Amino acid sequence: MSIVLITGSGRKGGIGFETARQLGRMGNQVIISGRKPERADALLKELHGEGIDASFTAIDLTDDGNVEDAAAAIEKQYGKIDILINDAALMQAGASVEEQDLDELRRVFDTNVVGAWSVTQKFLPLLKKSEHPRIVNVSSGAGSFEDPQYGLLHGTVVRMPMGYGISKLALNGLTVKMAKEFAPYRILVNSVCPDTTDSFGSGMWGRPVEVSAKSVIWAALLPDDGPTGGFFRDGERLPW
Ligand SMILES: NC(=O)c1ccc[n+]([C@@H]2O[C@H](COP(=O)([O-])OP(=O)(O)OC[C@H]3O[C@@H](n4cnc5c(N)ncnc54)[C@H](OP(=O)(O)O)[C@@H]3O)[C@@H](O)[C@H]2O)c1
Repeated sequence: MSIVLITGSGRKGGIGFETARQLGRMGNQVIISGRKPERADALLKELHGEGIDASFTAIDLTDDGNVEDAAAAIEKQYGKIDILINDAALMQAGASVEEQDLDELRRVFDTNVVGAWSVTQKFLPLLKKSEHPRIVNVSSGAGSFEDPQYGLLHGTVVRMPMGYGISKLALNGLTVKMAKEFAPYRILVNSVCPDTTDSFGSGMWGRPVEVSAKSVIWAALLPDDGPTGGFFRDGERLPW
């Protein structure tokens, strides 16, 4: 069984928390994390109530020192991690190049791209100690050219946050570079799109979080001869 760290999993209802729950039910040790430690007790109570081996580590992706401290604390407690799921993101930055608030745009890139980069960099020594290391970057069809709903070229959803989509495009590029660089460490690195998900419980749109989490878990549990450097939804390769 694996030790799994999931960023941005400190919110009940979110894809990250549900991914932790499902991986935990399979017998994996899950480390949930988020910016709000005050939520930890309730989240852990729920997971422990299901018999899941779970802990919480506070991680703010935009604070390098905090990420380093988290890596040191997790190394001390667990010795290594087997699976890193970069799930945390800000789904912001509007639909107009002309009108975009640039501070908001910087926050989005700092979280969705630099944040995932920082966590990966600082947890790499722990992943290198794993027999079957995996990295999953939770991306979006908004970060592709071709996605028919959200893609840059052919997307039909016109009010999609553009800065968010471009940050996920960059994340997909980062996935390719990580996959190449980390191949000697046998780390499989892939991007996944969980698809439009009702992670805020609106009941109005998106598929249930329980279904979307499976799209993430597929890439987390790939066999050693599985793909690397790709972009997938529900285990199917996506054009981008
Ligand atoms: N929902 C969809 O339809 C959809 C579709 C495609 C892709 N995705 C992707 O799926 C992933 C999960 O999304 P979700 O729908 O489950 O929404 P979500 O709960 O908002 O997930 C994002 C999480 O990231 C955390 N986060 C934001 N900034 C952070 C930071 N600086 N440090 C640490 N954590 C931070 C948030 O924490 P706080 O609770 O502290 O704000 C939040 O829990 C995201 O990568 C998203 O882009 C979602």
